[in-house]
Amino acid sequence: MRVLVVGSGGRCHAIVEALSKSPQVDKIFCAPGNAGIAALAECVAIKETQVDALCDFAKENNIELTVVGPEVALEAGIADTFKQNGLRIFGPTKAAAQIETSKQFAKDLMKKYDVPTAAYETFEDFDAALAYVKSGSLPTVLKYDGLAAGKGVVIAETMEQAEEALRDMLLDSKFGKGKVVIEEYLEGPEFSLLCFVNGHDVYPMPVSQDHKRAYDGDKGPNTGGMGAYTELPFITDEDLDYAMQNIMRRTASAMVEEGCAFCGVLYGGLMKTKQGIKVIEFNARFGDPETEVILPRIKSDICQVFCDVADGKQPTIEWHDFATLGIVLASKGYPGPYEKGFVIEGTEDVDGSIYHMGTALKDGKYVTSGGRVMIVVCQAPTLREAQQKAVAEVAKIKCDNLFHRTDIGDKAFKY
Ligand code: AMP
Ligand code: GLY
Repeated sequence: MRVLVVGSGGRCHAIVEALSKSPQVDKIFCAPGNAGIAALAECVAIKETQVDALCDFAKENNIELTVVGPEVALEAGIADTFKQNGLRIFGPTKAAAQIETSKQFAKDLMKKYDVPTAAYETFEDFDAALAYVKSGSLPTVLKYDGLAAGKGVVIAETMEQAEEALRDMLLDSKFGKGKVVIEEYLEGPEFSLLCFVNGHDVYPMPVSQDHKRAYDGDKGPNTGGMGAYTELPFITDEDLDYAMQNIMRRTASAMVEEGCAFCGVLYGGLMKTKQGIKVIEFNARFGDPETEVILPRIKSDICQVFCDVADGKQPTIEWHDFATLGIVLASKGYPGPYEKGFVIEGTEDVDGSIYHMGTALKDGKYVTSGGRVMIVVCQAPTLREAQQKAVAEVAKIKCDNLFHRTDIGDKAFKY
């Protein structure tokens, strides 16, 4: 089979790697890909959002399966266009992707179908929003209703912070012209439950946990994710059953009911609160960096899983029981401004998997070219061992302009 993966980050590197292990895959293309992905796939210079060009490419190259990484491609309608052209694609339509691209769509759906989530109100008017915040308690959570590259959520501890965030979102249109969802502040450990979904059919992957803050101890600004692991000691089988039944399956069925059946990966960003497990957010795609720690655990042929799910057939999905832990190396300054072009050495000494997030090849060497640059993932029978291994292996990478967190996975033992 000839397959196409759309995207360029560590998530796509992990998808490409998993596909490369499938005995039925002859050739993998990745658009646009990156320097690391180029070792496993032919990178094609088409952007994720150039839907028509991607569709033409898939037709001309007899692509039998396309797997979509980033939400921008989904919002651009890639799945709609591919389906209209009779091409098999693993990823939701633009309408179904609203579960991620519109906070209001997601919140209204959850309210209507009784999916547990934080209480909320939606506002377009600055004065009304401010009055609502003033009538409630702090901290309060303000979410821009649209894609904002992970930066559209503000947890305001003070009234001044809340006012400033509302001003950015509603008066100054910092992220675009949109509404704001104001929601109740929840507390508890967060985790990610990703599922393969087609219509009413929902198949879970191992649960994982991301680390969104830039620095140790969950300090500093929110990022795209600084590390992740699988095997969460604080999530019990009952928790998982509850989340599957009341959140993931209920939401998938709700979307069928609403006329926008979901096909692809439905990502539940969940929180285990004292009042039970609740939804923080949904994503309409594989998580990053969760994918980099989840997919190394798949035992089954992932190409067959993608095809079966996309075709509405029952897939066989088996997982290895080892734990995995990944540590992200990011450019100093990230998520703020940073410099690029620093040589990265020592990658060949690492005993583990390296997924490239933002690298380029220059004079035969990898150099930094993004905010998040690469992730080192190690596996071991227990989470502790996977953590120790990842900490040791990440230290082998030498580069003048990278930093990483040293406490990825510590939280697992503290809840
Ligand atoms: P989101 O983009 O919706 O995932 O939000 C980003 C981060 O903000 C989440 O990972 C949580 O840590 C935090 N957050 C979002 N909503 C809430 C909430 N209602 N209560 C507490 N924290 C939240
Ligand atoms: N790990 C968070 C995300 O993929 O959105």
